[in-house]
Amino acid sequence: MPRRSALARSAHLRSVKRIAILASGSGSNAQRLIAHFQGSSTAEVVLVAGDRPDAGVFARAWDLGVPSYRFTPAQLQDGTVLRELRALRVDLVVLAGFLRLVPTELVQAFQGRMVNIHPALLPRHGGRGMWGHHVHSAVLAAGDTESGITIHRVNEHYDEGEHLFQARCPVLPGDTPETLAARIHELEHAHYPIVVESLVNSMRHP
Ligand code: GRF
Repeated sequence: MPRRSALARSAHLRSVKRIAILASGSGSNAQRLIAHFQGSSTAEVVLVAGDRPDAGVFARAWDLGVPSYRFTPAQLQDGTVLRELRALRVDLVVLAGFLRLVPTELVQAFQGRMVNIHPALLPRHGGRGMWGHHVHSAVLAAGDTESGITIHRVNEHYDEGEHLFQARCPVLPGDTPETLAARIHELEHAHYPIVVESLVNSMRHP
């Protein structure tokens, strides 16, 4: 195989988009995203960052060889996190179970380049305090016969940015928040990496 020139190599490296994942929890979505892009010529996950030092996501990142960055709520607010993302030349921020509201400055710096996944069919069951089992309990309490996932751009409000993708699943008789969560997680794992990849492709070939 002919060797690529230094110029071609550097053009290739520039076209590989750099993803940072923000997460607060166990990190099963982060793990799928990292694995999906390992060895990809489209994008790579260059950082896993979060506000909960003991969150499971950090162990998963470690196992997969991705650098981690733990920050405090104050650092999220005062611009330290934004500076870190800029220093790493991050192109796209992917929230995967990140529980804090993203400050305006960070949202604006990554306008159109920050996405979130929500474990329900927005606009139902979204907003402040609606995360994890709270969402699934609300779906069951409302008597909904279906739920699903929403992948959306991030703006200054919880769960309100433009929808990019939804997938549905049934709510079954006898479901508990746990059984519903497991069904939703399967949907998330199947779709989030693919939707992020198509977003990356639209950034590479606008
Ligand atoms: C997911 O259900 C996601 O939709 C929500 O938080 C959960 C994170 O799960 N935003 P995990 O940490 O990726 O397992």
